[in-house]
Amino acid sequence: MIKAITGTRDILPQDIPKWKYLENIVNGIFSKFNYKEIRTPIFEETALFARSIGETTDIVSKEMYSFIDRGGTSVTLKPEMTAAVVRALIEHSLEKKQSLNKFFYISPMFRQERPQAGRFRQFHQFGAEVLGSNDPLLDAEIIIMAYDILSSLGLKKIVVKINSLGVPESREKYKLILAEYLKKYHDKLSAQSKKRFDSNILRIFDSKENQDQKIMEHAPLLIEHLDDESLEHFEKVKVALLGANIPFEIDAKLVRGLDYYTHTTFEIVSRSVGSQSALCGGGRYNLLVKELGGGDIPGIGFAAGMERILLACENEKSFSVKEEEIDIYIVTLEKELIQKAYQFAVNLRRSGLIVDLDYLSRSVKAQMREANKASAKFVIFFGGNELNQKEIVMKDMKTGVQVNIKFDDVDKIIFTIKGR
Ligand code: HAM
Repeated sequence: MIKAITGTRDILPQDIPKWKYLENIVNGIFSKFNYKEIRTPIFEETALFARSIGETTDIVSKEMYSFIDRGGTSVTLKPEMTAAVVRALIEHSLEKKQSLNKFFYISPMFRQERPQAGRFRQFHQFGAEVLGSNDPLLDAEIIIMAYDILSSLGLKKIVVKINSLGVPESREKYKLILAEYLKKYHDKLSAQSKKRFDSNILRIFDSKENQDQKIMEHAPLLIEHLDDESLEHFEKVKVALLGANIPFEIDAKLVRGLDYYTHTTFEIVSRSVGSQSALCGGGRYNLLVKELGGGDIPGIGFAAGMERILLACENEKSFSVKEEEIDIYIVTLEKELIQKAYQFAVNLRRSGLIVDLDYLSRSVKAQMREANKASAKFVIFFGGNELNQKEIVMKDMKTGVQVNIKFDDVDKIIFTIKGR
């Protein structure tokens, strides 16, 4: 039997209501902040991600779904959206039409990671990207939106962590200081951290290995070596967050796994989902547009993992969605009437009601069971006797009250049901 690929999942109809609930909240909050939706292709040229996320990052070096297409081009299923949004901005010169562009998206992403609870190979992100301003108020705005979405879902066990990675000049100087410190412990570092020592030294802060964590506990921190401008920017972000009542922690060891960040970085983690605890993450990327061939356009954004968020919601029982119900189930009392019942159903549907009926020639009892299973608000009985009188019987499933309604009096049915 052919099964879904490891790390991918079907979202079955029974789970769709909670996805829609989440998507509605996401759409609502982004619209209130005047962000416009953008949709980009599922795959892009591999070079786009390699150049933006960084050749030495885990994503680019080992997690991308890349293949050579029949035309000989190396293409990659998108592992994230930031690079794609920036590509679209440059390609369509959107900055010329509007100097500040605020985008949001909801889309599947692909990373060949080791699957575990909350970590998939096809997963879904919603996120936002703002291009065109270095205003720290926008750094705060991005964090506020992320926090407001999670709060609107009823999540309580969440922590906002923020940090600043400053600008490349101060970061390069700091890397030398960190390297100097780590030289003393080089032998004791894990094999992976030894590799990162040469390729991406900041990422050693991300190591889950005990031996590395012990060493990093006393490592010098980037935030202590930031230039004045970066510190001032960070200060303004904090003030704006305080003003918006966002509780946050400063996590000087938060480095993030993508190379394009400058200044603010942040993550919101959940204390209710186990090891894959980052519900969302993001930060500023003032140099990315230029690196990808565009103008000197600063940017900031974030993305959130929807599977992880829904897992956190489930663990915290933070919201419940009402079972989907239908307006009418038509129970046909005699088999010969099915054609008529069918036409009646089509007409009611065209008038805006959610209607279903039996397609399996089931007994009246089985049809009633089906009506209950579908949580029908009303059942309409189609029987020969009533039809002879040009009537149908309509039963309110909540109160049990039955009324006879003239067959042609569809308006009355619609009125009664829509009024409920
Ligand atoms: P990221 O931290 O790689 O950032 O991903 C953002 C979120 O996507 C994570 O916090 C997590 O919730 C979710 N996620 C990532 N990988 C997986 C996975 N394999 N399975 C399930 N969920 C996952 C970015 O993607 C950046 N583009 C964020 C950004 C936007 N920075 C600036 N703008």
